[in-house]
Amino acid sequence: MTAAERIPCRIEEILAPGPIERELLAGFALGEPAPPPAREQHYLAFLSGRPAGAAALRMATEADVALDVAPAHRRTGIGTELLRTCAEGAYRHRYSQLFGTATDGTPAAGFFTAHGFRTDSAVNRLRLRLPAALPRAKEVPGYTVREWRGIPPEDLGPAMLAAKRDSGDMPSGGLPGVLHDPAKALAMLPNRVAKQGNVLHTAAAIETRTGAIVGYAELVVFTGTRRAEQLTTVVLPSHRGNGIGALLKIAMLERIARAHPEVGEVETENDAGNAPMLAINAALGFRLVSCTRRGWVYAHSLAP
Ligand SMILES: CC(C)(COP(=O)(O)OP(=O)(O)OC[C@H]1O[C@@H](n2cnc3c(N)ncnc32)[C@H](O)[C@@H]1OP(=O)(O)O)[C@@H](O)C(=O)NCCC(=O)NCCS
Repeated sequence: MTAAERIPCRIEEILAPGPIERELLAGFALGEPAPPPAREQHYLAFLSGRPAGAAALRMATEADVALDVAPAHRRTGIGTELLRTCAEGAYRHRYSQLFGTATDGTPAAGFFTAHGFRTDSAVNRLRLRLPAALPRAKEVPGYTVREWRGIPPEDLGPAMLAAKRDSGDMPSGGLPGVLHDPAKALAMLPNRVAKQGNVLHTAAAIETRTGAIVGYAELVVFTGTRRAEQLTTVVLPSHRGNGIGALLKIAMLERIARAHPEVGEVETENDAGNAPMLAINAALGFRLVSCTRRGWVYAHSLAP
């Protein structure tokens, strides 16, 4: 379709969505709304009076755009019109950059590239099919591994709390006072996972000399499915390079094979620039499923 053949769409800014607008927006896949204090602005694109696309502009520390154009109306310029409108909105709210996220090989990737977005960060999704022939875990002298399900055993609570704090993984959860109650803070992730009916497993590496937890791996098994998700795997900086990361991951995968033989695949996400973790996962047999990039463009370069 050439530019001359394109039917212009009308874009409406939805200032205070009522039930009708909400229903129209729900017909489009704009993802989860950003939690407060982010502000969100919605736009609907109409073609001959019918909704053909929608966009959400999410404004927090940065401004992010989410777009969805009805499949029958793609490649007619509606996405571009919505993007330009969002860029103008971001610019008006004093954001110099507009961010967007797309997975390689999808229409969105071509779309953002065509509009000059530059990659800011990329995350690889990896999958390991089970049962897998895992390499033998190499013992790391001076360290032992302890494993548990749900909240940490009482004797490891303080060490786990310190490890979480030192690795920057301590949840604040936005709950006032939670950091003053370490036990509560430590229980937040296990409780959230349990509330969803799933099971959290942790493997921790303990320095035998000090009793300190110097690294840990957390994994969720989704009850009633054959799937599991490896969450954080972290080794504190001064203990890296000793094989503790691989030790933890192998211990965890062996534990899952024993405790949940029904699990047929484990997935995980790695920053595409995290070479050590990608190397460990590749050695364990994880394979790339997809790569999702977050990119940005100067808002004024798109704003109409
Ligand atoms: C991404 C999306 C919003 C694009 O909307 P659209 O209305 O089809 O986009 P446009 O017609 O304005 O496309 C503008 C340019 O982007 C590029 N582009 C769009 N779709 C593309 C695709 N499938 N492959 C490669 N390039 C593509 C092209 O350069 C296109 O110009 P051209 O048609 O003259 O070649 C739409 O495909 C969509 O809704 N996808 C599903 C939801 C999604 O992934 N949203 C984005 C992440 S939040």
